[in-house]
Amino acid sequence: MITIKNVLCNQLVKRCSFALRSSEIRFLFMLFTMIVTLTLVTVVHAVIHVQSPSDPVLRTSFTIDDNELEFGNIPKALRFDCHPEDGASQLSCTNRGCCWDPMDDVNDSGNLYALDAPVCYYPENWPSYEFINSTIEGKDFSGFLTRKVKSFYNNDIPIIKMETTTLSHSILRVKIHDPQSPRYEPPWPVKSNWKISNVKDSSPKYIFQTDSSRPGFAIKRAADNNTIFDAIGKGGFIFSDQFLQISSLLPSHNVYGLGEHRTRLKLNTNWNSFTMFNKDQPPTERVNLYSSHPFYIVIEESGDCHGVLFLNSNAMDIILQPAPAITFRTIGGIFDFYFFMGPTPADVLRQYAEVVGKPFFPPYWSLGFHLCQLGYGSVSKTREVWNRTRNARIPFDTQWNDIDYMENRNDFTYDKKNFKDLPQFVDEIHLAGMHYIPMIDAGIAAAEKAGTYLPYDEGLRDDVFVKDAETNQPFIGKVWNPIATVWPDFTHPKSAMYYFRMLKTMHDMFAFDGLWIDMNEPSNFLNGKVNGCTYNKFDYPQYVPHVVDRLLATKTLCMNAKHHLDSHYNLHNTYGTGQAIVSNLAMKKIRMKRPFIISRATWEGAGHYAGHWTGDVYSSWHDLRMSIPEVLAYSLFQVPMVGADICGFDGNTSVPLCNRWVQLGAFYPFARNHNSDDTIVQDPVAMGALVVKSARKALLIRYRFLPYLYTLFFKAHKFGDTVARPLFVEFTNDKNTYNIDKQFLWGKSLMIIPVLEENKVEVTAYIPPGPWYDFYTKAFISSTGKNFTLKAPLDTIPLMIRGGSILPGQTPNVTTTLSRKNKFELLVALDYKGLATGELYWDDGDSLDSLEKQQFRWLNFTVKGQKLRNREVEKGNFSQHMILGRVSVMGVSRKVHRVFLNDNSSIPFTYDISRLYLNVKGLYVDLKRKFTLSWAFEE
Ligand code: GLC
Repeated sequence: MITIKNVLCNQLVKRCSFALRSSEIRFLFMLFTMIVTLTLVTVVHAVIHVQSPSDPVLRTSFTIDDNELEFGNIPKALRFDCHPEDGASQLSCTNRGCCWDPMDDVNDSGNLYALDAPVCYYPENWPSYEFINSTIEGKDFSGFLTRKVKSFYNNDIPIIKMETTTLSHSILRVKIHDPQSPRYEPPWPVKSNWKISNVKDSSPKYIFQTDSSRPGFAIKRAADNNTIFDAIGKGGFIFSDQFLQISSLLPSHNVYGLGEHRTRLKLNTNWNSFTMFNKDQPPTERVNLYSSHPFYIVIEESGDCHGVLFLNSNAMDIILQPAPAITFRTIGGIFDFYFFMGPTPADVLRQYAEVVGKPFFPPYWSLGFHLCQLGYGSVSKTREVWNRTRNARIPFDTQWNDIDYMENRNDFTYDKKNFKDLPQFVDEIHLAGMHYIPMIDAGIAAAEKAGTYLPYDEGLRDDVFVKDAETNQPFIGKVWNPIATVWPDFTHPKSAMYYFRMLKTMHDMFAFDGLWIDMNEPSNFLNGKVNGCTYNKFDYPQYVPHVVDRLLATKTLCMNAKHHLDSHYNLHNTYGTGQAIVSNLAMKKIRMKRPFIISRATWEGAGHYAGHWTGDVYSSWHDLRMSIPEVLAYSLFQVPMVGADICGFDGNTSVPLCNRWVQLGAFYPFARNHNSDDTIVQDPVAMGALVVKSARKALLIRYRFLPYLYTLFFKAHKFGDTVARPLFVEFTNDKNTYNIDKQFLWGKSLMIIPVLEENKVEVTAYIPPGPWYDFYTKAFISSTGKNFTLKAPLDTIPLMIRGGSILPGQTPNVTTTLSRKNKFELLVALDYKGLATGELYWDDGDSLDSLEKQQFRWLNFTVKGQKLRNREVEKGNFSQHMILGRVSVMGVSRKVHRVFLNDNSSIPFTYDISRLYLNVKGLYVDLKRKFTLSWAFEE
């Protein structure tokens, strides 16, 4: 409970504004403040009339009347933090014109990042800017706002402009910027790539609103008038040079996104801070990790869904509080918001993909299993692991090497002693129909002898390295290389050519197929330079978001380092994506095939160029469990190619853990086992018989369903659909699914229910309403939307198939190359009405232009009235064999008498009445032609 006598508000706001200008006034002011503060404890209802000083912009007078004193009664959940810096005091708070309520129940755990209701908070309608004019042209609004009161932060922008752009009837951009002097905006995602639909004739799904006397704006859903974003007069709207803040009420607590963080999938709105600042940081709760995605989606109470992107790449805190409300607090750039009106989650994600770019189309082989470890140390050791995995007949496609393949851990080289046979080994891998991926770190060695290491010499010549602001020479830090490291500047016009040349030279030595780009937050083993960073406005801004150690340069570059485009301060969060872009372009040019890049640091739109792995996870049950929400969050960010290091990266794994992890990992969109050099060897064979058995079993199922998985990746690439899919995306009307993140879907049809605890051989899972089938037993479950306990023997991961689905598959083999030669299968799961649908996209799996040249087959399958049919979704000319060898149908409730192919010939089949399972094997049906397979019941 708030005791009103302790709550001090707003009365001093004007004094704050001029107190900052003169030390003399400040002294008097402090004295005055102390007196007033003391007086106020007893004279709460005083009416104070304050005149502002002579600054015309600031000339406003404030009368604090009884009503305003009621501001102290703002419920806790609605209090927006006015003092996010440590060390708030009554004085520092009231100096900001804010309310001070030292609650007894403030979290005093000592944890810097744990939030609670703020003790110092903005009164309602805290004055900052007001509109001086506004116009509406066509569908778009533009207005100028002028600053009324100086904020506590330096260099408020005196006049700002708010403008909207109707990007489509479902996408609205709201930009607030400095009309007098352009400020930094991130170079990626590339805005000129937008192919946004013409909106002339359709009416927008949103309503944009402002209030002339208060800053901020609100967005409503046109269909039901529901306010989805209300930032008018909420919290403290501030637009100063290095502190930009806006708060808004949210329409519900169902909030997802805001990565990269280790959180549950559904975010906790009970005072939570999400700091966005890319950092080499093993995934842990409450800290900023490798990547930044300031995007969230909300499921409204009605079940409609919208998304919001805050396209700002500066270090920032995003705060969720239980109002529910959100605050964006960034330290640079502009306010650039995108609202995606949905109304389904899938619609939101497709609309978001229009702005940030759709995911790259992966080569088919990359959907196979990948294997790596830091510290194989030699080709012979790498080959040994490669061979033993193949000998165990574990489905396996891509062998990787970590930095130990390099000479001195320097990019674009290989160790001519221990890895001298690398070129031959890579050829051998290719002969086996498999692929090879090496690591490339972001930093370039800077202390090799001149003339001995071309990547450094040529980079210097091209002047493509990030520069030290003090010396104007390449910024020097230290990563894995000996002595010193410099960093390519991916905003430099010559960097793409430089990267191409480096990668091409390396590719000429050994013909790698993809790239693993790492340490690209960028990570540095120093905090800035050897002696740290100078005292400058970028490294020591007035406000530092809640980054680990509260120092921006911790384990990265100094913020005042210079890129061609702008300061590192502004560009930091985009760095890894810059590397992904030049790597992607280079790989396309070098191989003339689809690039496959996996990056540790990502930023908005990174998925257009690369996938992501979740970094240095720990070999623990907790990390296993938390990998699911992270993979699912990345699906939302349009980076569908994502996975965690199977069995864990740091620390020793164990047989029970690795056993369950290989099962779950077989269903990560990106499935790679990788670990550190100081831990036990953890490739499946090294872990022993149980893990081998589980790996084979789970990966054979993955390989069986690769055509389905590939179709999902195609749809991600074409539309922005999810691959690994949270349940709420499919079952938005079922609130029970909103908080589920221990199980997930592949597309709409396959539900994966991993075991995430030790010593368990069953698992309780929520089965959404409808018909479902156990993949293994074909047992039918008709769920009304409740929990079921499923058997999960040690070698088995429970999988459920959703009624109404048709999943394309292929008899699996041990590589994707071999599997692709096998016949197709269709697994049909009927719904209550005996209906089912599904899709298959197919092409050669590796060409750059399959879509442009129509070198594909895109089919849809339906079952209706005991007839299975195929139809082309879009005309394609891919001409290679596509033979259907088997159809199995689950949920055939009556005894089947005969099965017909194309209505004429009766063909062999089996029907299992106890499982209601029809199986038609031995088919030889050309999928490229129309066919019908039908079954008749016994009379
Ligand atoms: C980083 C990567 C890890 C890799 C190591 C050595 O820690 O996250 O995957 O093994 O660097 O290159």
